[in-house]
Amino acid sequence: MKVTARAHANIALVKYWGKRDAALNLPAAGSLSLTLAALTTTAAVEPIDGAGDELVLDGHPVTGGGIARFSGWLDVVRARAGSRQRFRAESANDFPTASGLASSASAYAALALAASRAAGLTLDARELSILARRGSGSAARSIFGGLVVMRPGSRADGADAFAETLVSAAELDRDWPLAMVVAVVGGGKVKSLSSRAAMEHCAETSPLYDGWLASVPGDLAAARAAIERRDLHSLGEVAEQSALTMHAAALAARPAIAYFRPATIALIDAVQELRRRGASAFFTMDAGPHVKVLTTRDEAAQVAERIGQVPDVTQVITSAPGGPAELVP
Ligand code: PMV
Repeated sequence: MKVTARAHANIALVKYWGKRDAALNLPAAGSLSLTLAALTTTAAVEPIDGAGDELVLDGHPVTGGGIARFSGWLDVVRARAGSRQRFRAESANDFPTASGLASSASAYAALALAASRAAGLTLDARELSILARRGSGSAARSIFGGLVVMRPGSRADGADAFAETLVSAAELDRDWPLAMVVAVVGGGKVKSLSSRAAMEHCAETSPLYDGWLASVPGDLAAARAAIERRDLHSLGEVAEQSALTMHAAALAARPAIAYFRPATIALIDAVQELRRRGASAFFTMDAGPHVKVLTTRDEAAQVAERIGQVPDVTQVITSAPGGPAELVP
């Protein structure tokens, strides 16, 4: 039977950058994110008779290392189901699969739900988060909606490394209407070093990596306290600091990992200028040149207009908080 599921991308406000176990994809520290309604992956998974698994991404069959990685992840599903069944999966994003736009998070969250059901398993949200994490660390967070925290856990088997909701999308909609405005930098797919390779290189060579890791628990505590108080200014400040500390550690790697393009810096300036004019707007960047701006629902249009004027910004996507991964009937 073919099972279809969808999940939304998420953007970290306190970043995940580094693993304590590469094989099980266990994070070295916690992280905290906002799930975005406007960035959605739909994944369909069905059992097939062939000798190997198949994956089609945005209409293109995946081969080589890509299919090997996906098949290795399906082995986790098969082991859990006690089966040798092969699968065909089709995953499509409704947003450009530009690097740094968190497509692996929504993809592996949707795939975890669809593939586990197609294999005859009914997993709860925590188990789905653990399964999604095996595909991509940030995908563990996309199982949930709203503001989400990822627990790094301490067990060697990763059974305590999963995400959970802090404030649901419905609650945010009701009493803390946040929004995120995404500025896509450059045309087409931007070639950036994958987060997987970059994290490893950063951990091995950056003299600032330990300092970065040491900064995470304090940032997480500050972000959680700000969320408790519904204090966007404090949350936004932490988000900017966490992003800049992560990128500082990456820049100090040898050779350097530099994701920023000139437009990235121009966007940071534009966000600071918006703030000087009284707006609540705070930037964050991931493993790519794009800038995501945390703001309020009421100010999102003003923010989108301003950042859309920055040269080399090719698309602006405004999003409300999104809900959890779900099956599509
Ligand atoms: O889940 P991954 O392996 O694609 O890593 C995500 C890394 C960042 O996007 C840079 C940070 C994060 O927490 O999402």
